Amino acid sequence: MSPVVLCRAHPSLALIKYWGKSDSRRNLPATPSLAVTLAGVHTETRVWPADADSVVLDGVEQSAERYAPFFAALRRRLASRQCFRAESTNSFPTAAGLASSSSGFAALAAACVGAAGRELPARELSALARLGSASAARSLFGGFTLLPARARAARQLFPEEHWPELRVLIAVASGEAKPFASRQAMEATRRSSPFYRAWLASAGRLLAGAMSALERRDLEKLGELARLSYSRMHAALLAADPPVLYWLPATVALIRECAALRREGIGAWETIDAGPQVKVLCLAADAPKVAARLQQAAGVRTIECRPGPAPAIRVEGE
Ligand code: PMV
Repeated sequence: MSPVVLCRAHPSLALIKYWGKSDSRRNLPATPSLAVTLAGVHTETRVWPADADSVVLDGVEQSAERYAPFFAALRRRLASRQCFRAESTNSFPTAAGLASSSSGFAALAAACVGAAGRELPARELSALARLGSASAARSLFGGFTLLPARARAARQLFPEEHWPELRVLIAVASGEAKPFASRQAMEATRRSSPFYRAWLASAGRLLAGAMSALERRDLEKLGELARLSYSRMHAALLAADPPVLYWLPATVALIRECAALRREGIGAWETIDAGPQVKVLCLAADAPKVAARLQQAAGVRTIECRPGPAPAIRVEGE
């Protein structure tokens, strides 16, 4: 029997967002992104050699087309004709803007290479995962990561021990799949948003300040820059033709509650990806209070995360 390789990977939450591609065929990002890998949520993927490629996610067979560029690049990289069967589960709502594609493709890349009986450096796994989803390039590393604009792979800036007191509360505004896949919405922004160029220019400027705030563990500064990053990303989306709006009433209630907390002197800084969920940065000491207020304000559940590790691999059966 062929070995089954299991990989557990954690989502990568961008504080400075990747939004837009400089090369859609190679899936290279047009903006740099700065992110934290999250412990507290994960994807688990089991992979074994098979006659044809197939991926099942939370019990649902996935479209082969979405995964074809990834599997083709994998075989080129391994100089092999091997195909794979992958079965994956998420510990959080899939495709609802909780960065499931980041942990999903990171786990898939690491597990496939393992199932082929091979090893690759994290940088090479990161480049492979990027072909599925650029944010996945970051999930191959623990702690705090950077995927520069036009880069083929991400790198670690600081390990998770750099800031053990940092918390991210995921406020789940909706468990439903998002109405627009990020790939299509990014393309719509590039094609039709008059704010796209301004967004690209701004992303580079926000990055430098955010990297320095992260190095100093300055939550207030990092939180302010993260807020500008998501606001400008969503402003560019809203200016697309037709407009793309991911937010729900609960999303807006959560944004306003974070502002109220800050006015009371409690550091709670929100960020939002391609979906209605709100992720709130705060310190461990404030996390119970912030979570209670978010739950009260919007009637949502929250998941508490902290800086997390790189993917872990295990061989299950020989
Ligand atoms: O990696 P993708 O194609 O799922 O796009 C991710 C885009 C955002 O989550 C909105 C931002 C980011 O940098 O993760």
